[in-house]
Amino acid sequence: MRTQVCIIGGGPSGLLLSQLLHLKGIDTVLLERQSREYVLGRIRAGVLEHGFAKLMREARCGDRMDREGEIHDGFFIAHGGGMDRVDLHKHTGGSSVMVYGQTELTRDLYEARDRMQGVVIHNAEDVLPHELLSVAPHVTYRDGDEVVRIDCDYVIGADGFHGVSRKSIPKDVLREYEKVYPFGWLGVLSRTKPVSLELIYARNERGFALCSLRSQVLSRYYIQVPLTDTVGQWSDDAFWQELKHRLPAEVAARLVTGASIEKSIAPLRSFVAEPMRYGNLFLAGDAAHIVPPTGARGLNTAGSDIHYLYQALVAHYQRGDDAGLHGYSAQALARVWKAQRFSWWLTTLLHTFPDSSAYDHKLQQAELAYLFSSAQALASLAENYVGLPY
Ligand code: FAD
Ligand code: DHB
Repeated sequence: MRTQVCIIGGGPSGLLLSQLLHLKGIDTVLLERQSREYVLGRIRAGVLEHGFAKLMREARCGDRMDREGEIHDGFFIAHGGGMDRVDLHKHTGGSSVMVYGQTELTRDLYEARDRMQGVVIHNAEDVLPHELLSVAPHVTYRDGDEVVRIDCDYVIGADGFHGVSRKSIPKDVLREYEKVYPFGWLGVLSRTKPVSLELIYARNERGFALCSLRSQVLSRYYIQVPLTDTVGQWSDDAFWQELKHRLPAEVAARLVTGASIEKSIAPLRSFVAEPMRYGNLFLAGDAAHIVPPTGARGLNTAGSDIHYLYQALVAHYQRGDDAGLHGYSAQALARVWKAQRFSWWLTTLLHTFPDSSAYDHKLQQAELAYLFSSAQALASLAENYVGLPY
């Protein structure tokens, strides 16, 4: 098989890029290790920047998002028993975010790929990129007993943090930066009315909590838990009790609880791999960098990678201009590091660290007091949350 661009990974990054390229007449083959049902069973991001939403529209996948997604002009930070609102609209000169689940967005992208007869191969086993420094790289995968070879011009590694692409860059070329946090997020999805119209990020000495939503009948809640905890240890009742303890009393009093539809634990990690290009392999999204979910940056940063890569590949194929491909890694990393900084800052501000002292707690309180007393500090938070320009 031959294609122009072979994409490894059928998460949002890989699907969005293949859809955008197809619309420009650039041929792609996408290889996904899992079944479609498995990919669509993962509950992850919920908050999209306008830049990401715009890419979805450009990919002709924005109709349902625009119908069913919610525009949020602000969110709350609960601390010290009360709540303060971050007015995104006011502090960014009119910007906001879109609440639309990654699961739905991924479903929309798969449906668009099917409509356009895009080649998406599921259950591709033992995917391996080869000869990445040559002008004729190729990718192999196993389909039962058969090894299939795909010749291409470029390989895109959009296969997430545990993928094979980053691992195929030699160790003496790749530099990895990592920070592991001593806790995870236990997430619950429930078919209940959300406790608040807008998201609530809660700092509490028992640990962080987040009240989010997917729609007015579907709620998504998270609580910070020790890394040693397992999903099996947390009954629905125990989860709701703990969540209530971490919210202001008036919010806890109106929390509607119900059976969990999904329950999972995500460890928190900050990670960047540099460079994001090795020969004719380009990394994008979680394959190259991850953030703790606190600032809702992960998928959105994957979106800026895809934007840069899309522009660069179109310039190459349509105009023979390779400046974008040459500059991709530096350009993407410049924005990636800003998202790293913001996610680390918000995580540090709102979580309880096992080794933190009374002094550290006082500092968190002072930082929150400063934040809500300074229009400049709020503007900094707001501009990062809605997404820095591409
Ligand atoms: P992935 O979604 O990981 O997709 C990679 C794909 O590659 C997967 O389908 C995988 O099966 C496949 N794959 C892996 N290995 C191979 C292989 N060897 N061969 C072939 N295929 C392979 N981000 C936000 O912006 N906003 C949020 O509100 C937000 N909330 C989050 C909440 C939680 C609890 C979590 C865990 C994450 C959250 N994120 C959020 C982050 C976001 O979900 C990720 O950044 C996003 O999924 C990255 O997309 P991706 O396509 O790059 O990688
Ligand atoms: C969600 C996840 C986040 O990490 C976040 O910051 C906001 C919302 C969510 O899953 O809804």
